[in-house]
Amino acid sequence: MRLFEADDLPAGDLPAQLTKIYDGGLRIPDGAVYANFVSSIDGVVALEGGTAASGGIISGRNEMDRFVMGLLRAFADAVLVGAGTVRAEGGKALWTPEYIFPAAAEAFAALRRSLKRQKAPRLVVVTARGELNPSERALQVGALVLTTTAAAPHLRKALPKATEVRAVSEKERIGVDEIFAVLKAEGHQTILTEGGPHLFGQLVARNRVDELFLTVSPKLVGHHDRSFGIIRGLDFGRTFKGGRLLSVRRADSYLFLRYALEDAA
Ligand SMILES: NC(=O)c1ccc[n+]([C@@H]2O[C@H](COP(=O)([O-])OP(=O)(O)OC[C@H]3O[C@@H](n4cnc5c(N)ncnc54)[C@H](OP(=O)(O)O)[C@@H]3O)[C@@H](O)[C@H]2O)c1
Repeated sequence: MRLFEADDLPAGDLPAQLTKIYDGGLRIPDGAVYANFVSSIDGVVALEGGTAASGGIISGRNEMDRFVMGLLRAFADAVLVGAGTVRAEGGKALWTPEYIFPAAAEAFAALRRSLKRQKAPRLVVVTARGELNPSERALQVGALVLTTTAAAPHLRKALPKATEVRAVSEKERIGVDEIFAVLKAEGHQTILTEGGPHLFGQLVARNRVDELFLTVSPKLVGHHDRSFGIIRGLDFGRTFKGGRLLSVRRADSYLFLRYALEDAA
């Protein structure tokens, strides 16, 4: 149910089934970088030190949250994630619209055709250590792995042929600008990032994220060292990054918030 939408938010046409479930249209501007997370009421998105498949646990595999994930994926040229998210959420998972919400597979495909997107968004994974399990289904199907010159040779040997391994940095970490240079060179303009919190923090610090879609799941998780929020490993001190609320939707006790992030490049 739509509760609020900013006056300047473009309406955006969706296939009828998607409009019905989303209670209105949605448009993601071409070339946007947008993020999607589900958080508990008390701000937790990652459990057990970031090793648990936390998204589904925190959302309780909520149908509307899965629909929104699928809808957001349907707009993307590429889905960008850190290796921690693949290690935690991987296994049989695919980062495609129809994997997360199969009931709207045809409508997602129709939306992608109307947007002139490839059949599926490309999964792009960043890793410095190169610890990825070759049996991950998403890597079997095919992804692009961005890594360091040190880790690339081992990864090329270990990972399935369908996945391309690209050495993009001689340093221990890949710079955010290096990640976006590759995405651009690959023709990927509209980028969804599903985090996780370590990667997302770096993207926000470089003002690379235009919008944040945040689901608030009606759960209290509690905090200690092994649970954390949407940004990890970075502290902006009192120079907070800000957001402008663009839209609020509700389904049962879940809230679906959309923010424009300030200072985005
Ligand atoms: N609730 C939600 O919506 C949601 C969404 C996403 C993830 N999560 C949860 O978040 C947890 C994982 O958190 P996380 O912060 O560890 O995830 P993450 O950001 O996906 O993964 C961190 C890892 O990504 C790689 N990485 C990140 N930045 C890099 C850079 N600049 N250069 C090279 N490699 C880089 C590194 O991999 P290597 O260690 O391989 O070098 C790093 O250890 C999991 O529990 C997952 O379920 C929750």
